[in-house]
Amino acid sequence: MPPRKIIIDTDPGQDDAVAILLALASPGEIEVLGLTAVAGNVPLELTARNARMVCELADHAHIPVFAGCDRPLGRALVTAEHVHGKTGLDGPDLPEPSMALQDAHAVEFLIETLRREPSGSVTLCPLGPLTNIATAFRQAPDIIPRVAEIVLMGGAYFEVGNITPAAEFNIYVDPEAADTVFRAGAPLTVMPLDVTHKALVTGPRNEAFRALGTPVGNAVAQMTDFFERFDKEKYGSQGAPLHDPCVTAYLIRPELFSGRHVNVEIETTSELTLGMTVADWWGVTDRAPNATFMGDLDAQGFFDLLTERLARL
Ligand code: BDR
Ligand code: CA
Repeated sequence: MPPRKIIIDTDPGQDDAVAILLALASPGEIEVLGLTAVAGNVPLELTARNARMVCELADHAHIPVFAGCDRPLGRALVTAEHVHGKTGLDGPDLPEPSMALQDAHAVEFLIETLRREPSGSVTLCPLGPLTNIATAFRQAPDIIPRVAEIVLMGGAYFEVGNITPAAEFNIYVDPEAADTVFRAGAPLTVMPLDVTHKALVTGPRNEAFRALGTPVGNAVAQMTDFFERFDKEKYGSQGAPLHDPCVTAYLIRPELFSGRHVNVEIETTSELTLGMTVADWWGVTDRAPNATFMGDLDAQGFFDLLTERLARL
């Protein structure tokens, strides 16, 4: 099978960075057509910078990086410096990027690429708020049936919220965009907190990254060192949850994950539960399934894969 063509839509974020590194380290399975940056964990200027820093860390400065939407469709931007630090990528001391941003807007790149490539050949991998993807779908609905699959990190069901009691960050930041994407009709695979909170970087797992003895291994270990303090304090967990790498790991080893094909809708009006992903896990409604909502993963298999792939960079 030829590698799957993907576009990674991202707001790096230490866990976004690891997701990108995993994709770049896996050319046998994944061909990264480009990265599109969106405002999320930190403002757009920083996510567009961080995305390029990650490409350069991986020695992949040829990957085109596009800046996209700088705010949600209809709301003020909420950011997460309290988790990711002031730059969004706190932890390692990485050089400022020297590769340039592309001139085109991320939304233009999404639309043009989906129109140019054979229908059903491009997978979208959103790792942040869904503003860029929803804007592209609203501006050019003809691209929706051309999408092979959307595999995204977002939402929560049994695990409930991380930014509010009910909502996960990526969906909460732009619930209208999420609603557009979840209703679009493209095949959708969702990595919610239910899964990503099982992808925990324990001490020995982080030591395995460090023991690679490479710039990438060290940077990843330093990123998770920084990123873990928040979740350790909040949840009393053993380490940082690698949310976004679940998306790219799924493209390489889907059998590591299990879930259910169910109806998932986004709350866009209630002040109390704004951005909640209402997943009909138990099939108690007759609403049509629109997403494969993951619930579990083989955590050790995931970390073995990640460590083995990062060693290639
Ligand atoms: C998601 O929010 C961000 O902080 C992370 O990068 C991840 O995409 C987890 O809720
Ligand atoms: Ca992210």
